[in-house]
This record gives sequence, C-alpha cells and structure tokens, in this order.
Amino acid sequence: MNLLLADFTNKNLFNTVLSQLYYKSTVDKLLAGIYLGVKDIYYIKGIKTSSGNCAYYYLYRTQNNTSPAIQRLLDLGAVFVGKTGTVQFANRDRPTDDWVDYHCPYNPRGDGYQAPGGSSSGSGASIGAYSWLDAAIGSDTGGSMRSPAAQQGIYGNRPSTGAISLDHVLPLSPALDTAGIFTRTPSLWAKATKAWYPDFASNYTSLPSKLYLDGGEWDGEGVTPEAHTALTTFAQKLEAYLHAKTTKIDVAGLWQETHPEGSDSMGQLLDLSYAFIVSVDQFNLLGRSLFNDYGAAHGGRRPFVNPGPLARWMWGQSNGADAQHEIALKNMTTFRDWWETDGYGKADPASCSEGLIAYVYGSGSPDYRNTYHSPPTTPPLGFGTGRISVLAGSPEVVVPIGESPYNSTISLQKEYLPVAVALQMARGSDNVLADLVEGLGKEGILKDVVTGPRIWE
Ligand SMILES: *[C@@H]1O[C@H](CO)[C@@H](O)[C@H](O)[C@H]1NC(C)=O
Ligand SMILES: *[C@@H]1O[C@H](CO)[C@@H](O)[C@H](O)[C@H]1NC(C)=O
Ligand SMILES: *[C@@H]1O[C@H](CO)[C@@H](O)[C@H](O)[C@H]1NC(C)=O
Ligand SMILES: *[C@@H]1O[C@H](CO)[C@@H](O)[C@H](O)[C@H]1NC(C)=O
Repeated sequence: MNLLLADFTNKNLFNTVLSQLYYKSTVDKLLAGIYLGVKDIYYIKGIKTSSGNCAYYYLYRTQNNTSPAIQRLLDLGAVFVGKTGTVQFANRDRPTDDWVDYHCPYNPRGDGYQAPGGSSSGSGASIGAYSWLDAAIGSDTGGSMRSPAAQQGIYGNRPSTGAISLDHVLPLSPALDTAGIFTRTPSLWAKATKAWYPDFASNYTSLPSKLYLDGGEWDGEGVTPEAHTALTTFAQKLEAYLHAKTTKIDVAGLWQETHPEGSDSMGQLLDLSYAFIVSVDQFNLLGRSLFNDYGAAHGGRRPFVNPGPLARWMWGQSNGADAQHEIALKNMTTFRDWWETDGYGKADPASCSEGLIAYVYGSGSPDYRNTYHSPPTTPPLGFGTGRISVLAGSPEVVVPIGESPYNSTISLQKEYLPVAVALQMARGSDNVLADLVEGLGKEGILKDVVTGPRIWE
C-alpha cells in the first residue's frame, strides 16, 4: 500500500478514490470525504508497517492495532487511501545515497529532482503531487513535517507537544514527537487541525499583538531578490492583519541578557540536547528490541539499518547513553522555562500567545537529489531557530508565501521553488494559530497551492 510517488498514472488507485467521492462534511463528521495519506510509522490494523526499513516490515508483519490518532481522523470521516514513504525510522536520510532500503519519494516542484525534505517525505510529496489526495499525516520530532512542507510549498505543522496520543506509532522520542497534517489549502489545514487535536478549545478574544521576525532573510540576506520581495510583502500584510507591532528578534542575544543563573551560552546548553534525546530514546524504545527480535529469528544476525539511523543509535550508546539523555532533558526544561517567562514564548490571557514568531523555513534554494553527501556519522548537533519549537514544545506551522527562481542543472532552464515561512506561537495556542492561518487564507494573504512544478497556477 505504499504510495509510489513516481507513479502518477495509477488508474486503479485513481478509480478507487473517485468511487468514494460521496461524503459531505457534517457537524460530527467534519472531515467526511477527505482523502488521506498516512506516513508509514503509524500502525493501521490489518496492514504492515515498514517505517522505511525492510527488516522491520518483514519481521513484525500485520499490525493488530490502529493508532488512535489515525482512528480519530477516520471517525471524523476521513478516508484512508494509503501509506506514504518515510525516512527510515523517522530520522534524517538525504536522497539518494542514504535511502538504501527504500527509494526516496519525488518532490514535484521545480525540475522534479529536488529533495522532498524529511522525514515525512512521502506525505509531503504526495500533497505536492496528487490533486486527488486532500491531506496527509506525518510526524515532526526535529523538523520532519516542516521541512517537507517547505520543500513542497504546502501547509504542514508540528502541534504543541502532547497534542494527541502517539500510541501505536513508531517512536523517535516521546519527549519531542508530534503528529502533523499536510494540505494544499489554509482552510482545510485549519479545519483539520482544530477537529483533530482534542484539547485546544480556547476562549481567546484577540490575536497576538506582537510580530517577531527572526533571521536575516527578512532583510534579503542569502535569498534571491524575488524571495526577498515575497517575504517583505508577506511581513507587511501580516503586520497589518494583526494590527501588530513588528520587532526583529535575536534569541541568542536575549538569552545572553536574561538567562537563568548557572547556565552557559545557549549553544553550550542546547547543542547536544536534541542529539541525545532522539538517539538514546529511539535505541531504547526500538533499536535494541529490533536487534534482539531479528537476531532471534535469523540465527543471531543483525538487521540492515540505513547509515543515518544506525550512526545515531551508535553515537548515543557510545557517548553516555541514559546518563547524557537525562542531562539533555534537564537542559531542555531550563530552556523551555526561560522561553515561557523571559523569552518569546509567553502565554497571554486574551490571545493565548503574546507574540507570533515568523522565520524563513525554506528560501527556495535548490537541494538536488542527485548530490553525493558525506556519510552521516552523528545525530544532528547544534542549535538553531528550527529547534526552538521542538524544545519549547510550542506549535508551529509552515506556510508557502512565494516562489524563487533558480537555474536548474537538470533541465538547463529557469525553474521555481517555494519560499516558505514558519509561524510559531506559545505552547497551547494551536487553535489560535489555526484561526490565524484560516483568516490569512480568507484575506488572500495565504493562498491555496496546486500540484506540479509550480505552487500557483
Ligand atoms: C499480532 O498478533 C499476533 C497474534 O498474537 C502476533 O503473532 C503478531 O506478532 C502481532 N503483530 C504485531 C505487529 O505485533
Ligand atoms: C470557554 O468558555 C465557555 C463558556 O464560558 C466554557 O464553558 C468553556 O469551558 C471555556 N473553554 C475554555 C477552554 O476555557
Ligand atoms: C547541558 O548543559 C550543560 C550546561 O550548559 C552543558 O555543559 C552540557 O553539555 C549539556 N548537556 C547536554 C547533554 O545537553
Ligand atoms: C541564471 O543564469 C543567468 C545567466 O547566467 C543569470 O543572469 C541569472 O542571474 C541566473 N539566475 C539565478 C536565479 O541564479
């Protein structure tokens, strides 16, 4: 049931999909008739899960449970169409050389040979490629929703940590894993997330009154003139829509001024946190039992694991394992507490979130899938803007706002790639964020995108 994204002409699948076009949205079936792809780390009763690994797929066979997060979407009327390809065990494999067990899905934008982003690669690519598919589920631990959303120029989010049960979903780290949804329209993204996450009904009366812009791209640094124009226009419209005061922010600088006693620079505190949390958790919760179960069934042999996840697991085990993992969680908590009291993640009684943070997630620069990279040897080290929502547990959605031209080394023509911005609010403000995106869609500040090489007709 894996959607093979190079197969644009699968008539059988197409007919099946059309024959199910009977449902209308109703009050209790808000997502009736929405065709849904699901990342192949969510268990669905009656079918196998690969999580991008052949050994796992054949060893564990048919699932006996459906993940409650997916069941909730089915109960809301969504129609499950198929599983979508994932970076192995939801880590980070870069095309094409890291994708040893399964081939990397195709990003339809630009020349068709750009990386789709990951780890929810197939879910993102399917929404960029298949007009008959309305939405796809992925997950985000360290960027796995946001990167495909940016690379494909579609809507995709990570919610507040803990937004929805991740039982019967293959784990990377329970401390950081979240479930998100990709769509081509701001209206469906807002409707689906509000219906899907159960606990974010709030009585806010206003939108955030502060707009925080992070990163030099807003001033044209490292982006094409076309991308800079799109960013400037979007920032102006966003400020007007919110009636907000815009501030350029420098998170590391604010940390330097206001950080809690006894903690070092932000880099020292956080450079290793993500690496230890994900590599130790996934080995404890998955890797070790996979090795044991496979060995028991195959005369003591070790299963094949792609270079990326294998390097991460081994790095975590040989650099301190559980002891470092515990410190990493403490460091994360130190950061989160600061973010919510002295940083830019403060809650607000009227608007849930005092501010809206906007930064550039994808500037439309090419990332060719036929590039040979150095082999992965460690988990991702270092701390950047994209890690803030991960460690703070705050909701973030990536939205397409424009296109940037490049000279393709594949087609030898001028092609275009999406420019995408991440919007983040305080933890728990998921509904306000959804309403904002819906409102921006109604005003035409955010637009529906189409499938294929360009995001707009
Ligand atoms: C489903 O249940 C059967 C029977 O108990 C068991 O053999 C099988 O391993 C289970 N499948 C999974 C994926 O756990
Ligand atoms: C919102 O207000 C209504 C009516 O006062 C109340 O019943 C509900 O619990 C409130 N919801 C939240 C999340 O505060
Ligand atoms: C935790 O923070 C301390 C103090 O800043 C730092 O020295 C250490 O390397 C960090 N460890 C991890 C695992 O994040
Ligand atoms: C593409 O190539 C042309 C001719 O060399 C150059 O003028 C133009 O700036 C290039 N465009 C981009 C987006 O790099």
